[in-house]
Amino acid sequence: MSTATPAPPEDQPYTPRHAGVTLGRARPIFLRAAAAITVVWVAVVWTAPHIEVSAEVHRLALFCHLAALVVGFGAVLAMDWLGLQWMLRRLDLPTLLRTTHNAHLLVWLGLAGLVASGALLGPDTDATLTRVKLAAVLAVALNGLCVGRLQHRLAAYTESRPPWTVLAAGGLAALLSQAGWWTATAVGFLSTQG
Ligand code: HEM
Repeated sequence: MSTATPAPPEDQPYTPRHAGVTLGRARPIFLRAAAAITVVWVAVVWTAPHIEVSAEVHRLALFCHLAALVVGFGAVLAMDWLGLQWMLRRLDLPTLLRTTHNAHLLVWLGLAGLVASGALLGPDTDATLTRVKLAAVLAVALNGLCVGRLQHRLAAYTESRPPWTVLAAGGLAALLSQAGWWTATAVGFLSTQG
């Protein structure tokens, strides 16, 4: 999924190259990744209700589900917290980009773990709450791709202030991400409350 090169050492500047691929290749890769995510999502929604597992496997899957939630959502909260620190001018842009670049992998690992373990938990895809949750999961994943692209664009402004359009897109992406994660978490909790 990640097309990014490793983050540079601390003493080297953060450039667009470190946030991902070159600009010319970014769009087709983004579209392919979005299509791949949607295909995986449809496959899981289609097949998960038909997967039957023993009570022990269900318990183990629930543990993995919660562990993946800690990893994925924990990384998202840390990234958004650092973004807020940057907006309050308590953190510089290269440091923000370097740190969030490294945390991105954790978000994708957490999300993949949630989807894989969630598929073993017997979701009732006819229930409205479950549908809301699955829509939130797709939104979170697609929004995550947009965040990767934004990071790429922001990396061009380490020496100057980014234009307000990029800042507004970053704020909107962070809001969408928080809304999606909290919705999925709340719906997951509510659906276990009998
Ligand atoms: C961002 C993604 C997700 C988050 C934040 C999330 C969060 C949660 C939470 C907090 C619970 C409650 C656990 C408990 O109270 O014991 C839960 C349960 C559940 N989740 Fe998820 N989940 C996510 C993705 C998914 C996906 C993609 C599926 C299905 C494919 C899924 C299926 C389920 C099911 C079926 C349960 C009920 C488990 C049970 O107690 O039997 N989840 N989820």
